Amino acid sequence: MKRLARLFVSLAMIGLFVGAPFSWSAAKNDWPMEAFEPDLTNLPSLQNGFKLYANYCLGCHGLQYQRYGRTADDLGIPRELALETVVFTGQKIGELMTTSMDPEQAKAWFGATPPDLTLEARLRSPEWIYNYLKTFYVDDSRPLGVNNGVYPNVGMPNVLLGLQGVQRYDQASGKLFVEEGSGSLTPEEFDVAIYDLSNFLYYVGEPSRLERQRLGIYVLLFLVILGTFTFLLNREFEKDVH
Ligand code: HEC
Repeated sequence: MKRLARLFVSLAMIGLFVGAPFSWSAAKNDWPMEAFEPDLTNLPSLQNGFKLYANYCLGCHGLQYQRYGRTADDLGIPRELALETVVFTGQKIGELMTTSMDPEQAKAWFGATPPDLTLEARLRSPEWIYNYLKTFYVDDSRPLGVNNGVYPNVGMPNVLLGLQGVQRYDQASGKLFVEEGSGSLTPEEFDVAIYDLSNFLYYVGEPSRLERQRLGIYVLLFLVILGTFTFLLNREFEKDVH
């Protein structure tokens, strides 16, 4: 009995050690988060996210564990097309998606080195990324004139300003609002773009999830067929028994 009690205590301690850092990091910011549901079955969304990432993010943030070729294959993009539309660095299709940004220089410019984002969706959650990308707003007190709701005093410039337009924070209501017509996308279109980007980073965090999902469908089909045959076979046996 004593041994069992000790086992329980040890398990509880391990749970605390493992769980505590997560609950702490989750409680760090009280910005109201919008819900986000990733969808790996939506290939057009993932393709668009990939394109947006290559255009707006890869210049600063590498995806050092992810290859262009594998990504194109996974997302159903022909490799030649991928070479034309997402490889801007003169790299080969089989290469890793590293960034050409010099970390030292980046640190001097932004006060922080842009981190590699391969595992960002696992580190922060796709929901966090979605909300982060949506909540850049004008703040003249910051060195780059921009702040962020989810990541206060962030060092990243607002790279999607041209798409979203000028977003401001209203002290009175505690809400963000975009100056109408100041961006090239409508708010709804911008939401879709951010959704696709976050969805893409979710895929990048664990590419094999996509494969598992595809495999899962075959496994289920196989089980249905196997089940049918087992049922029929069983019926035959039953006939013999009676
Ligand atoms: C001009 C360079 C630059 C570009 C382009 C850029 N970022 Fe950043 N980003 C930064 C810097 C610098 C930081 C670090 C900010 C800090 O820690 O204060 C950062 C931080 C981040 C973080 C938070 C990382 C963390 O600490 O967990 C995310 C997520 C992110 N960027 C996503 C993106 C996405 C998505 C894009 C494309 C839409 C993008 N960034 C484009 C420079 C850039």
